[in-house]
Amino acid sequence: MSVGQRYRVRLAGVIAARADLLLLDEPTNHLDARGLDHLTQAVREHPGAAAIISHDRALLAEIATAFLDLDPTSDGEPLLVSGGLEQWQEARRRHRAAWEDAHRAQQEEHERLRSQADAARSRLSTGWRPDKGTGKHQRQSRAPGAVRALNDRIDRLQEHRLDVPTPPPRLRLPASDTRAGAPLLRVEEVEIERGAGLPPRLPATSLRLEGGDRLLVVGPNGSGKTTLLRVLAGDLAPMSGSVRRLSDARIGLLEQEDDRARSPHRGSPGERRRRALAAVFTPRPDIVLLDEPTNHLGISGVDDLLDALERTPSAVVLATHDRSVLRALAHWPRLELGG
Ligand SMILES: Nc1ncnc2c1ncn2[C@@H]1O[C@H](COP(=O)(O)OP(=O)(O)OP(=O)(O)O)[C@@H](O)[C@H]1O
Ligand SMILES: [Mg+2]
Repeated sequence: MSVGQRYRVRLAGVIAARADLLLLDEPTNHLDARGLDHLTQAVREHPGAAAIISHDRALLAEIATAFLDLDPTSDGEPLLVSGGLEQWQEARRRHRAAWEDAHRAQQEEHERLRSQADAARSRLSTGWRPDKGTGKHQRQSRAPGAVRALNDRIDRLQEHRLDVPTPPPRLRLPASDTRAGAPLLRVEEVEIERGAGLPPRLPATSLRLEGGDRLLVVGPNGSGKTTLLRVLAGDLAPMSGSVRRLSDARIGLLEQEDDRARSPHRGSPGERRRRALAAVFTPRPDIVLLDEPTNHLGISGVDDLLDALERTPSAVVLATHDRSVLRALAHWPRLELGG
């Protein structure tokens, strides 16, 4: 089965049990459009309570009535917002902006006090410098005032606490070299069969990629998206048709699921996903292949990724069911599989 097919079976079992409290951890990951509709309806009709962890704005907009936001905050307390998606996003934006402002103001004030103390110190040392010639007596008599001023500045600097933590960094993906317009990859009538009586893993598919191109690969669970990305990456040899790559083309593949046992990264699935994403971009690939990249990413991670995708000079092929990604990248060309 494809990854999405496996998830659908597991999800159906959990929902059918009609629990008093339904706990779902990223239930929309890997689900196709029909699976998403079914899930949304099932949660709406669920007679008990439901607590759901999700980065899927479309699901949250349809079913959530309160948000507990565990992203880092300025005071370390989770943000609890009652209301729908819009209220939560507004509260989140306000919090983040106030946090960045407070942090910036505190850093600037600290810098100001430090330079005042430095100025007082240098005035004092000039005053104390043993002086050749005349005026020595006069300078020494000014010294006690300068010492007081310096001590006062140092006290104020030490009293000024830096207690607003630094806001967490945004997900930044390294830039790639540009090969704008260069032909990188050509796939012609590539097909992968599964044997007699079974639909193919990948129906006959053709495509071309040049430097800087964009391509969205969409289709229901099991339609061959992951299979196609593996063929493009060179991990899977086609049974018929041809794949030609520019001989020195660098290709990076983000797989649909990180293998936890093989992954060099510790941490939550979301943290591993962010690191895996950064790792794919680090060798500055000519072509980036992303298989369901937003699964496990938090909402701010999704925004940062979309931002990076608009700017990267790499050619990008992205397979996804994520409705907010599909909406944001509606202007990209699409390849529909199994539709
Ligand atoms: N290793 C495999 N051997 C044989 N068939 C496979 C294998 N992996 C997947 N398939 C089958 O090939 C078809 C395409 O699978 P693929 O994983 O490419 O689909 P997908 O579009 O990525 O699905 P999903 O949306 O669930 O990620 C499916 O019918 C699946 O059952
Ligand atoms: Mg897949």
